[in-house]
Amino acid sequence: PHVTHSQASSVLALLLLLEGGMFSASRPAELLEKVFQHIHDHQDEFVQTLKEWVAIESDSVQPLPRFRQELFRMMALAADKLRRLGASVDSVDLGSQQLPDGQSLPIPPIILAELGNDPKKATVCFYGHLDVQPAAREDGWLTDPYTLTEVDGKLYGRGATDNKGPVLAWINAVSTFQALEQDLPVNVKFILEGMEEAGSIALEELVEKEKNRFFSNVDYVVISDNLWLSRKKPALTYGTRGNSYFMVEVKCRDQDFHSGTFGGILNEPMADLVALLGSLVDASGRILIPGIYDHVAPLTEKEKNMYKSIDLDVEEYKNSSQVKKFLFDTKEEILMHLWRYPSLSIHGIEGAFDGSGAKTVIPGRVVGKFSIRLVPHMNMSVVEKQVKRHLEDVFSKRNSSNEMAVSMVLGLYPWIANINDSQYLAARRAIRTVFGTEPDMIRDGSTIPIARLFREIICKSVMMLPLGAVDDGEHSQKEKINRWNYIEGSKLFAAYFLEIAKLH
Ligand SMILES: *[C@@H]1O[C@H](CO)[C@@H](O)[C@H](O)[C@H]1NC(C)=O
Ligand SMILES: *[C@@H]1O[C@H](CO)[C@@H](O)[C@H](O)[C@H]1NC(C)=O
Ligand SMILES: *[C@@H]1O[C@H](CO)[C@@H](O)[C@H](O)[C@H]1NC(C)=O
Ligand SMILES: *[C@@H]1O[C@H](CO)[C@@H](O)[C@H](O)[C@H]1NC(C)=O
Ligand SMILES: [Zn+2]
Repeated sequence: PHVTHSQASSVLALLLLLEGGMFSASRPAELLEKVFQHIHDHQDEFVQTLKEWVAIESDSVQPLPRFRQELFRMMALAADKLRRLGASVDSVDLGSQQLPDGQSLPIPPIILAELGNDPKKATVCFYGHLDVQPAAREDGWLTDPYTLTEVDGKLYGRGATDNKGPVLAWINAVSTFQALEQDLPVNVKFILEGMEEAGSIALEELVEKEKNRFFSNVDYVVISDNLWLSRKKPALTYGTRGNSYFMVEVKCRDQDFHSGTFGGILNEPMADLVALLGSLVDASGRILIPGIYDHVAPLTEKEKNMYKSIDLDVEEYKNSSQVKKFLFDTKEEILMHLWRYPSLSIHGIEGAFDGSGAKTVIPGRVVGKFSIRLVPHMNMSVVEKQVKRHLEDVFSKRNSSNEMAVSMVLGLYPWIANINDSQYLAARRAIRTVFGTEPDMIRDGSTIPIARLFREIICKSVMMLPLGAVDDGEHSQKEKINRWNYIEGSKLFAAYFLEIAKLH
């Protein structure tokens, strides 16, 4: 699928022609060709910069002063890089974070940067994060996780794909226009944080605060913090599921019991809880809570057809996840149940005996934990009521003398974008130009709150434009980004700037 530069420019010329030939086709096409050539020629420098960034152990998950220092160093390095591009950079001080053990740790700054302020141009804002998940060689890495190492075109290193590589790809695209002494086609803004892997502490508050200042002239937001569904075929992400997390407590007393002394004369909390949890979902994966599917967006023929062309090898997916059989056999059913239908998962029981050995305990108080991945157009407060009513109903039918309490402890809405929105169409054209193919239009079954956060607060078009391949191994050992994805991804962002410019 690698497209040569002359192929790319003829594709672009053709597209311009098809779009009515309003532009003199040669100039943007020539410029794009120069941009692609520059990125191609300078790829080793781009990889070297990624190596310098990966070398910083910017781990936000382990709350240790040593890692916080590394995070501050990482944010300072990025701020410096942006300043050298000519951006005005604001490193927003976020104070410190109080940990449960009483320790206080400083929160790394969020970078707000801007380059260009031409009211005639569109303004695109890129969100990325520079913190990483923990990594240690002994976890099963073949190379040092903080030394970017290339093997067969794969650049191994913690943060290579999540998310330092994509942040740098965006910067590479900007710096290429500058190196070629070309006017940037769009005004560019950056919001870069250092606490994403630790729950984006302080991000929402800052976005809210900057809504009418930094974000006031932003037209489009781009997030590049997820992966393709394929190793080779690019993707555009237009939706994520939400999540509502429940705790159900069943209590007899605070202390545990001995089953020889009390077994047979008690309503055991664990038996009640197992019955409650067992009433939630059947063996086919269907949620048994009455009314739960009532608001789920109906499936249209149009949507159904969209799943056909998506590149997912079910056999390989099954094999690589070491699962003998999924609940569904076809690609379409699997994707729909990951993306557009809710699912209920039971996560654990607090207070239950879970060690090895044969302890004869009757837990006195247990808490079951489960969550429902929400999809458009489910209503969170309705879901909460339905879950509570169902559990109360099941519990009351047991005539148990225990006490039950249900609470929803987390509620995150799903996010969905309009794939016919002009920014999505622009990105699709850019993908066609760089990769010579239509992207997979994908959603993500997990919950990524930032897209919805930007959409809700600043009310502008938000798009997730991933660069990494499905096997990049975010968060796991041997995380990598392919050199090809990193370099073509830099070209993609440059092509995207030019496509966005054409809209204005
Ligand atoms: C299945 O996975 C194993 C390793 O987990 C691999 O060696 C094998 O080639 C895979 N087979 C298929 C059909 O993908
Ligand atoms: C959700 O349902 C509640 C109660 O039925 C209703 O008041 C609210 O407007 C609904 N919210 C949305 C976003 O539809
Ligand atoms: C609960 O009590 C009701 C009324 O006392 C009785 O009809 C029912 O069979 C009981 N249910 C169970 C599961 O014991
Ligand atoms: C997007 O637009 C195309 C072409 O106009 C149309 O066929 C398609 O149904 C639209 N899709 C959605 C989700 O609106
Ligand atoms: Zn990430």
